[in-house]
Amino acid sequence: MLGIVLKTVNSVRYGNLYERVNENACSLIPNFVQSINSMIDSLADREAMIKEYQNELNKKIDGLQEIEQLKEDFVATLTHDLKVPIMAEKNMLSFLMEEKFGKLNEQQKEAVFHLKNSNQELVELVEIILETYKLNETKINLVKEKICVNDLLKDTIEEMKPISDSDDIQVNFFTEFDGDVELDKFYIKRALKNLILNAISFSEPGSKIDTAVCIDEKNVYIKITNYGKGIKKEEVKHVFDKYYTTAKKFRKVGTGLGLYLSNKIVKSHKGRIMVESEKDNWTTFAIVLPR
Ligand SMILES: Nc1ncnc2c1ncn2[C@@H]1O[C@H](COP(=O)(O)OP(=O)(O)OP(=O)(O)O)[C@@H](O)[C@H]1O
Ligand SMILES: [Mg+2]
Repeated sequence: MLGIVLKTVNSVRYGNLYERVNENACSLIPNFVQSINSMIDSLADREAMIKEYQNELNKKIDGLQEIEQLKEDFVATLTHDLKVPIMAEKNMLSFLMEEKFGKLNEQQKEAVFHLKNSNQELVELVEIILETYKLNETKINLVKEKICVNDLLKDTIEEMKPISDSDDIQVNFFTEFDGDVELDKFYIKRALKNLILNAISFSEPGSKIDTAVCIDEKNVYIKITNYGKGIKKEEVKHVFDKYYTTAKKFRKVGTGLGLYLSNKIVKSHKGRIMVESEKDNWTTFAIVLPR
């Protein structure tokens, strides 16, 4: 008799919730058999309920994915279409700066200089968004080569000079490492640019930014420190989130994609980005790459 019960229990154990103990074959222990069968009944009910929840959840997930896709397509198309006039503007402003359309007086030169800077900011914004959508669609394809980290950082600082100069911010450079690291210079430069651009954006005009290349046994650390409002403790954990930005508070334009993207890039190099900040004092972001 117990063998019959055991057979059913085992069958249930392996997922067969349709099986019940034959009450007629176990007439000597009716109560026991009934409670086993009603236990299986309630297990079957629960399983049906879970399946129903699961279906509902899957439908919701599908809906959300569809909305997310629509949103991404919309932003990607919009950004892409924005890029065309912005690039055209960029070329025209270069011609103006080079005085190809005639000599400019000092006031006009200054105006064109400011226009070119804000145009450059727009170009960077649009590139960040486009890059993010590209990265979401495909895995990052890294083209790694041995790169001198000092040169890469110095070149990036140089390229950002028009922006740091316009805020009267001095960018210092210090290094304790003079070697190469295997990396994709295009992508790491993009991450560095994002960190330096943030350091400039979240600093007071006239302040300084300290950059440094440091090492320990395993890693190279490219550190960017700026002195400004800093990041509140409770906000630090959000800075790498997609779309997280406090730029508006500082009357700036921001997508909240810069760090999200930089983090993806560094992670694809098997590295990480560290952040430390003291409110109203300083903030350090460090790209950590394996040596
Ligand atoms: N050096 C910094 N000092 C203070 N806050 C910072 C610094 N860097 C980043 N943050 C905080 O992290 C947020 C997210 O940065 P992120 O670069 O992702 O976006 P963003 O700069 O606001 O916009 P964008 O997409 O144009 O880069 C910022 O809005 C800011 O709140
Ligand atoms: Mg940014």
